[in-house]
Amino acid sequence: MDRLSEIKRRRTFGIVSHPDAGKTTLTEKLLLFGGAIQIAGAVKSNKIKKHATSDFMEIEKQRGISVATSVMAFEYRDKQINILDTPGHKDFAEDTYRTLTAVDSVIVVIDVAKGVEEQTEKLVGVCRMRKTPIIVFINKLDREGKDAFDLLDEVEEKLGLRVLPLSWPVGMGQLFQGVYNIYEKKLILFSPHGKQLEEDTLEITDLSDEKLNKKIGKKAADVLREEIEIITSVYPEFDQQAYLRGDVSPVFFGSAVNNFGVKEMLDCFVDIAPSPRDRETEERIVHPEEDKFSGFVFKIHANMDPKHRDRIAFLRICSGKFERNTNYLHIRQERQIKFSNPTAFMASKKEVVDEAFPGDIVGLYDSGNFKIGDTLTEGEILHFKGIPSFSPEQFRFVNNSDPLKTKQLNKGLDQLMDEGVAQMFTKIENNRKIVGTVGALQFDVIQYRLLNEYGASCDYEPVNLYKACWVACTDDKELENFKSRRRRDLALDTDGKLVYLAESAWALKTVQENHPNVEFRFTSEV
Ligand code: G4P
Repeated sequence: MDRLSEIKRRRTFGIVSHPDAGKTTLTEKLLLFGGAIQIAGAVKSNKIKKHATSDFMEIEKQRGISVATSVMAFEYRDKQINILDTPGHKDFAEDTYRTLTAVDSVIVVIDVAKGVEEQTEKLVGVCRMRKTPIIVFINKLDREGKDAFDLLDEVEEKLGLRVLPLSWPVGMGQLFQGVYNIYEKKLILFSPHGKQLEEDTLEITDLSDEKLNKKIGKKAADVLREEIEIITSVYPEFDQQAYLRGDVSPVFFGSAVNNFGVKEMLDCFVDIAPSPRDRETEERIVHPEEDKFSGFVFKIHANMDPKHRDRIAFLRICSGKFERNTNYLHIRQERQIKFSNPTAFMASKKEVVDEAFPGDIVGLYDSGNFKIGDTLTEGEILHFKGIPSFSPEQFRFVNNSDPLKTKQLNKGLDQLMDEGVAQMFTKIENNRKIVGTVGALQFDVIQYRLLNEYGASCDYEPVNLYKACWVACTDDKELENFKSRRRRDLALDTDGKLVYLAESAWALKTVQENHPNVEFRFTSEV
C-alpha cells in the first residue's frame, strides 16, 4: 500500500471520561471488535483505585499496566485504529492533556446517571481549545439515568459542545429496549450481556411502519416516533465537515458492559473520524502527506525495572515515514540519532517495527535523551506546538536528605521532570528547588522513585504558594525593573524560562497592577 493510502486509513484517537464512566470497558469492547483481544477482562483499568492512593506497589503496578495499554492499535474494516489511553486519576491530568496533543479526535464517555462530571469538563475544554473533533458516547443505558433530552442540554451547556444525536435510546434502565440508529436508520434491540445478533436488528426506513409496534410495543414505538420527530426538527442534518471542524459533536447511546450500541458508534467513527491532521509548529504547518518525516514526543515512561533505567519515549509521527535504523535530527540536542528497536503497540503486545506512518505512535527506547515536547525530523528545524505545562496546584521545597547522593538526586529529579511527573522551579535568589504538582500523589511517587531508581533520598518542606506564572514582557526595561523588584519571588523552570511564584491571588493581582506591561501566564508551551 502506498504512503498516502496508509495515512488515509489511520484513525488515532483518545477516549476521555470522568473515572468510572466506562472508558476501560468501552476500550475493551472496541478491541474485541477489532479482534485485538479475544476475551473480556483482558484490558486492565489503569486507574489508581481510590483506596490505594498511598500504596506504592499499586502505583508501580499501575505504571506497568499503563505502559502496556498506553497505545492500543488494531485493524477494523481496513482501517488502522490507534487508541491512546489516558489516565483517569485526576492527579495525572497533565499526562492526559499531553496525550490529547497526539490524537486526531476523541470519544467522550458520559455516565447516563451522573451526566457531565468535573474531569470531563476539564478534558473537553482542552479538546475544544484545539478544535479536536469529538464524538460523545452516553453509557450505562441499562441503568436508570437522566432523560436523554435533558442530558443533551447538559452536554451543550457544561461542555460547550453543539450536539447532534446519531442514535437514540428506546427506554432506559428496566425498560431499556435498544437504540435507534439515526445515522443508518436501523433499530437495534437490546439483550443484556449478549452479543448483538442479526435478528436483533430491524432495518426501518419509515418509523410509521407497523413492524415497529410489534417489535417494541405500541407505547414505546409512539414515544420513539415522537422523539425522533423532535430530533429531526430541532437538530440539523449531520454534516461531516462541521464535525471535523469541531463545530458539532455526534452523540451515541449504549451500554459498554453489555457491548450494546458500541458497534454502531465504531462503524460511524471509522466512516467519519479524521485521518491524521495537519499539525502546527512554531515555524509552519506540517501536513501528514509531506515526504519528509517529522514527529514529536508526547509521553515518556520509565522502565519498571530499576536495574535497567532506560525509558520509553512515545513518538507521534506527523509527516513522512518513520524508518528503523535511520538517522533523524533531534532538534533540541542538535544531533543525529537513530533507533534500532522502535516498537509499535498492537493491542497489549509490543513489537519491533521497520516503518511507521503519520498517525502512528512508536515507542523509542531512551537512555535519557528525550524530554516531553522534543521534535525529530529529517533535518528541518521544527518545533511542534501545543504541548502545554499548566501551573501546578501544590508546591513543596525539596531537600536532599543524603548529601553523599547529591549527584544521584539531581539526575533523578531532572529525569523525572523530563518525564513530566512534576515540574521543578529553581529560585533565582538562593537556588533552592521547588517541586510543583497537580495532585499530592506525585510527591509520594517522586520520593519513592528517587529512592528505588536512583538511590537518592529527599524530603519536603512546605512552601506557601498559589500559582507559578510564566512571565512574558516585550519591554526589556520594564522586565528588568520587574525582575529587580520581585527577585525574591522569581524562579527558573527546567527550560530556563522565567517564572513568578505568586503567594496568593491577591499578591498576583498587586504585582499585575504594579507591572501592567508584564504578562503572567498560568500555562507554558513546551
Ligand atoms: P473507567 O475506565 O471510566 O474508570 O470505567 P470502567 O470501564 O472501569 O467502568 C466503571 C464501572 O462501570 C465498572 O464497574 C464497569 O463494569 C461499569 N460499567 C461500564 N459500562 C457499563 C454499562 O454499560 N452498564 C453498567 N451497568 N455498568 C457499566 P465496577 O463495578 O467498578 O468494576 P467491575 O467489577 O465491573 O470491573
